[in-house]
Amino acid sequence: MARITAGVGVSHVPAIGVAMDSGITDQPYWKPVFDGFKKSREWIKDKKPDVVFLVYNDHCTAFSAAMIPTFALGCAAEFHPADEGWGPRPVPVVKGHQKLASHIAQSVILDEFDLTIMNEMEVDHGLTVPMSIMFDQPEEWPCLVIPLCVNVVQYPAPTGNRCYNLGKAIRRAVESYEEDLNVIIFGTGGMSHQLQYKRAGLINPEWDKEFLDLMTKDPVKASKIPHVEYLREAGSEGIELVMWHVMRGALDEDAVEIHRHYHVPASNTAVGHIILENKT
Ligand code: DHB
Ligand code: FE
Repeated sequence: MARITAGVGVSHVPAIGVAMDSGITDQPYWKPVFDGFKKSREWIKDKKPDVVFLVYNDHCTAFSAAMIPTFALGCAAEFHPADEGWGPRPVPVVKGHQKLASHIAQSVILDEFDLTIMNEMEVDHGLTVPMSIMFDQPEEWPCLVIPLCVNVVQYPAPTGNRCYNLGKAIRRAVESYEEDLNVIIFGTGGMSHQLQYKRAGLINPEWDKEFLDLMTKDPVKASKIPHVEYLREAGSEGIELVMWHVMRGALDEDAVEIHRHYHVPASNTAVGHIILENKT
């Protein structure tokens, strides 16, 4: 059967993608950011996932203010890179796993989580930057990807608890798929940042580090963090962190921390990263 063996939490700072695409990752500003990802790249090369289930958010690229689904599952054969502002990144087209994605749609919707089914969808830095962080700059991505797009752009985003329980439903779906597949789940976005208005530039390392601790030690407590705490402590865009709970819910509660990286600042954002593996 298919199995979710590990989870990755990682920021999606668009400037990280720009640094890679323009070949300046060895510059003093960027080197410490990328040094912290060396172990992650070795780890995932060794793990050889067949499929990455990638929980991310769209930034008004695939969706406009005209239509904002809370949870949208990518069931297409391909997802082309696109982006607001910066233009599409020069990265490979993302290939989906249509059969597994359809199976997950059926299982999760009949499990009473109402997903939007996306048979066509473009993907922005929210998805491509985490792929570049983990897989560097290959000709083709080394695995198939099933994107799950979560609304964190217009209030109300889903609660952490809802995301955590959706992670559990995704795990049930994957484990009811017959073919042997190694699936790694990514929860992306965050950490603390605010891009707008009076508190623009806010970064809160103490709160971020506590969030990373909770990811490992007490994911249930983490999933109960209310929206207002993200806004107060992690800034308006810190709400992106609710997506990490989907990843965490899909793993065992006692999953083991393999690697962690935290760095401030990168652009306007704290870069946070964690790798967790199920014991069995
Ligand atoms: C930045 C961070 C984001 O999450 C984003 O979507 C856009 C910009 C930034 O730090 O510049
Ligand atoms: Fe963002």
